Amino acid sequence: MVRCIAADNPHAIAQAVQTLVDGALLGLPTETVYGLAADANNPAAVAAIFAAKGRPADHPLIVHVAPQPTVESWRALLDTLCDRVPDMAWSLIDAFWPGPLTLILPRRSGVCTAAAGGQSTIGVRCPSHPIAVAVLREAAARGVIGVAAPSANRFGRVSPTTAAHVRSEFEGRLADNELLILDGGDCAVGIESTIVDVCGEHPVLLRPGHITSAQITDVTGLAVWGVQQHSPQVSGSLESHYAPEAQVHVADAARLRAHVDSLSSDSMAMSAVYGSAALLNGLPAGLRCREMPSNAEACAHDLFAALRDLDAAGVAHIWVEAPPLGLPWDGVRDRLKRASAPLPTPPIGTRPSVL
Ligand code: TXA
Ligand code: MG
Repeated sequence: MVRCIAADNPHAIAQAVQTLVDGALLGLPTETVYGLAADANNPAAVAAIFAAKGRPADHPLIVHVAPQPTVESWRALLDTLCDRVPDMAWSLIDAFWPGPLTLILPRRSGVCTAAAGGQSTIGVRCPSHPIAVAVLREAAARGVIGVAAPSANRFGRVSPTTAAHVRSEFEGRLADNELLILDGGDCAVGIESTIVDVCGEHPVLLRPGHITSAQITDVTGLAVWGVQQHSPQVSGSLESHYAPEAQVHVADAARLRAHVDSLSSDSMAMSAVYGSAALLNGLPAGLRCREMPSNAEACAHDLFAALRDLDAAGVAHIWVEAPPLGLPWDGVRDRLKRASAPLPTPPIGTRPSVL
């Protein structure tokens, strides 16, 4: 049995911090998704993260730090992790930390080597979730200054946004002394942090999220570059990432409706639809449906839970209405693109294996 403790239990923070100090794994709620956390400077604990996730050891982890009260204390903390903090990084820290933004910075050699997957850079994030902040502060006071935490899902699967999702990923796979889940409720943002590489002359967007490239330009005064070629080290950029077991297909409302209308009743029983209220209204009764929220933030909050719920129903295909265009939807579109297979559909009726 994986252990789980409610964040409002008076012993929760102390137990969570002790878990980190002991070199074990902690299911940590953040404002984006739950992390699988461990002491970033404990190579054995970091190895346990990679093993639990089934993640290749050269895929770097993000290191989480507690918010700092002053510029001087930020400088002192970042000096321990980074070789240099460029000006644009300071502007972004000032504007968005604590919050759902990860900065890729030049790594100080010898620090968090295993967590950084051997890269010369380090991903640093300062989350805003009050429970995460309490854990990070207390952990720092006990000598754990950086906490490595990838999303708390097995490699290639949808990120967890509730403690129950985390449990379902690791139940039966980890012993009760290997993982403690801190239940801090639903994650407010629902998709992973925006990742920006600030090592070069321009910010480079490695992963879109709640904080948009327009906001990054506003704050830094610099154009945001896209990733020219996908780096294999950014596992979030692999095509197979974020995939539920069912095959996900994204299509505009008209194509989706036409497709669903053409399904036999057997195929319909193996299909689910995640779409706007307007689309769902016109669909055949009896089809498994979930309404997609009409604004980008609410949709991001709902997205992974919706995919997990529809997947858990055992369908072979999840049909998703293409989200609107526009910057606020970038993160949702990105995750759906990675979770989906292109039209037309493969033969319906079988449940494809995990990609
Ligand atoms: O919101 C989030 O960022 C969540 C929560 C738990 O903080 N964490 C998260 O971690 O999404 P993970 O490991 O699932 O995704 C982190 C991504 C990976 O694609 C990884 O390759 C990339 O960040 N990354 C980490 N360090 C990097 C580095 N030094 N250079 C390039 N990419 C890096
Ligand atoms: Mg992940």
